[in-house]
Amino acid sequence: MSFVLHWGRPATAMSTLPHLSPSPDLRERVVVTDVALRDGLQNQTQHVGTADKAALMRALAAAGVPSIEATSFVSPRAVPQMADATAVIAEALALAPLRASALTPNLKGLERALAAGAQEVAVVLSCTETMNLKNINMSLAEATRVSCETLRAARAQGLATRGYLAVAFECPFEGPTPPERVLELGLALLEAGADEIVVADTIGAAGPAQVKHLLLARLLPHLPVDRLGLHLHDTRGMGVANAYAGLELGVRRFDASVGGIGGCPFAPGASGNVATEDLVLMLEQSGFATGISLPGLTSAVDLASSLLGRSLGGHCMPWLRRQISRAAAEPRATAEESPAR
Ligand code: COA
Ligand code: ZN
Repeated sequence: MSFVLHWGRPATAMSTLPHLSPSPDLRERVVVTDVALRDGLQNQTQHVGTADKAALMRALAAAGVPSIEATSFVSPRAVPQMADATAVIAEALALAPLRASALTPNLKGLERALAAGAQEVAVVLSCTETMNLKNINMSLAEATRVSCETLRAARAQGLATRGYLAVAFECPFEGPTPPERVLELGLALLEAGADEIVVADTIGAAGPAQVKHLLLARLLPHLPVDRLGLHLHDTRGMGVANAYAGLELGVRRFDASVGGIGGCPFAPGASGNVATEDLVLMLEQSGFATGISLPGLTSAVDLASSLLGRSLGGHCMPWLRRQISRAAAEPRATAEESPAR
């Protein structure tokens, strides 16, 4: 049996690696949402202009990324990088069928998103009192009420909706998060109309055992797995392992950030998201289909690096670059070895 890594849509290079399914067409689909434009850029001191954000969105779309979180409609005083949210949504809409969502923590954010033409929005409910106060200046009770009213209003307008449960594993201010609280808040968001509940390890504190415990013992008995997503940060290098733990339990939606950029300005210790290239490589090598091209992601990483003026990239990047150079040096052999094309 020959093993071929499927590189995704606009593939420019091939390599050999095991995957578990005989044909790309038979592989199960996993949806990866790239959040670099929002979770990634919100934390950067380097200003990135709208035209550069649009270029990054085009690079992600060209790599076959199906879904991005493009921006947030929040106070420009709180997060200056997101002050151009309206213009960014306009750029994103031009890239359909790429799906683009926007973070809207309150009704004012939703109004702005609707006026901009957004078709998908996300609310962010932190699972602890202090994190809500630091992030959106609301108590847990108020944040729950506002998140639910924002979801209901978004649904009434026909928008697709995501509900983040931030600091679902550990809070930088209050320590470990009680799993029963995550369930309670997740059910509240679901009831209010969230199409997807996104369980977020905002500071990257979880390991695979914690992911399995939260999902198996608390969430999955009550929340449909096809409505659950995982949003993981790679602070302790366990992002991919945590995604695999979720994958094993049936989760098929993951957030990630190209180049691994990310973090939350209001959560001390939060580092970058799991890198999209690391996640996609793991998923494809595990026999799932993402539709995303790793060479295409490499181009997006290069662009993000030039925009932020520093070298970026997930753990796999040095290896990936070697594969791409090798394949480029041997184009004929690559084509002959490549049943996936
Ligand atoms: N977009 C833009 N401006 C907003 C807004 C929104 N969604 N919501 C409120 N505002 C404005 C108000 O109009 C008001 O403006 P003014 O001072 O010119 O009159 C000002 O912000 C304060 O409004 P208030 O309702 O008192 O909000 P707040 O000061 O309690 O802040 C948030 C609440 C949510 C707007 C603010 O904390 C925020 O934007 N946080 C960012 C959260 C974030 O992005 N975190 C990272 C991702 S998880
Ligand atoms: Zn995050």
